[in-house]
Amino acid sequence: AQQAQSQSMTEALSQACDYYRAQLKTAPNAITYLKNRGLTGEVAARFGMGYAPSGWDNLRSVFPDYEMLALVESGLVIDKVDEDGGNKKRYDRFRERIMFPIRNTKGQVIGFGGRVLDNGEPKYLNSPETPLFQKGLELYGLFEARQPIRDAGYVLVTEGYMDVVALAQLGFPQAVATLGTACTSTHVQKLLRQTDNVIFSFDGDKAGRRAARRALEACLPQVSDNKTIQFLFLPEKHDPDSFVREFGADAFAQEINDAMPLSQFLLREVTGEHDLSTPEGRAATQYDAKPLLQAMTPSSLRLQIVRGLASLTESSPAEIESLFELSKPVSV
Ligand code: CTP
Ligand code: MN
Ligand code: MN
Ligand code: MN
Ligand code: MN
Repeated sequence: AQQAQSQSMTEALSQACDYYRAQLKTAPNAITYLKNRGLTGEVAARFGMGYAPSGWDNLRSVFPDYEMLALVESGLVIDKVDEDGGNKKRYDRFRERIMFPIRNTKGQVIGFGGRVLDNGEPKYLNSPETPLFQKGLELYGLFEARQPIRDAGYVLVTEGYMDVVALAQLGFPQAVATLGTACTSTHVQKLLRQTDNVIFSFDGDKAGRRAARRALEACLPQVSDNKTIQFLFLPEKHDPDSFVREFGADAFAQEINDAMPLSQFLLREVTGEHDLSTPEGRAATQYDAKPLLQAMTPSSLRLQIVRGLASLTESSPAEIESLFELSKPVSV
């Protein structure tokens, strides 16, 4: 029953995706919006982008049985129940939005993100969590990026739909997005299954810097000496989409070259605002470093970071290892 259920959900999502794609071709306002953002029809097609027109029950034309359960279960329609109980009214979740289909690694559509064409709220409306779609597990664009990641030898991890699509158009098809959620250890696992080199490139704002910190924490238990994790920090007002459009592909490639290795980012994070010229500042730095180093499994990289921390805080690596109890087996 479970399998039949997810199959009808998958079919519904795929049919809806075809419908939204067809609608985009005849929606001048949506086409103008995408053109204004610099997108070509080619890249829109590559990502299966579409448009959900205005109207409360357009999907009736796609699904003659608009009452079927799979439409609600897949999040395409919403059941509104009247206050007095009985009377149910069903309507399309996505209206007047640019549609980004989210695929699993098999290429099946498992959900959508929909962007408003103006400054309306919410800017993005996403499919709800369903048995097929769990936001914390999926990476937008991973299906499309799999071969490019192999070719490039690394993956770029961004925050948003538009970052992935713009980067692909401008020569960086090896990009995926966490969909605005924190990078989870499942995300990291999925990424490291594709490649040994991960570069996080979040927005230059406060939220993006916080996302980088969370990504660092998600990575620590999974780093090893044959993998490199790096962090690319963009100027405050930019995200990868805006940066690559304003400064061009060469400038972005330079940013990739200059990305900060995990070890350096970690040491910068723990130093923070502490004054390393005082014993208290050095102690506070070690205090902040402790949980991060404890999250790492023993490795040469961990040793190198311990050495870096030791020299910043006027200690010896052995002192830090014993203070942090790093020789003890890690308990997870
Ligand atoms: N997001 C979301 N819901 C919102 C805002 C953001 O799901 N209301 C997710 C989307 O996946 C979005 C990502 O978080 O792509 C990053 O958010 P943001 O940086 O605000 O949007 P951009 O991707 O930069 O979108 P745009 O360039 O279209 O403004
Ligand atoms: Mn943002
Ligand atoms: Mn953006
Ligand atoms: Mn952004
Ligand atoms: Mn502190």
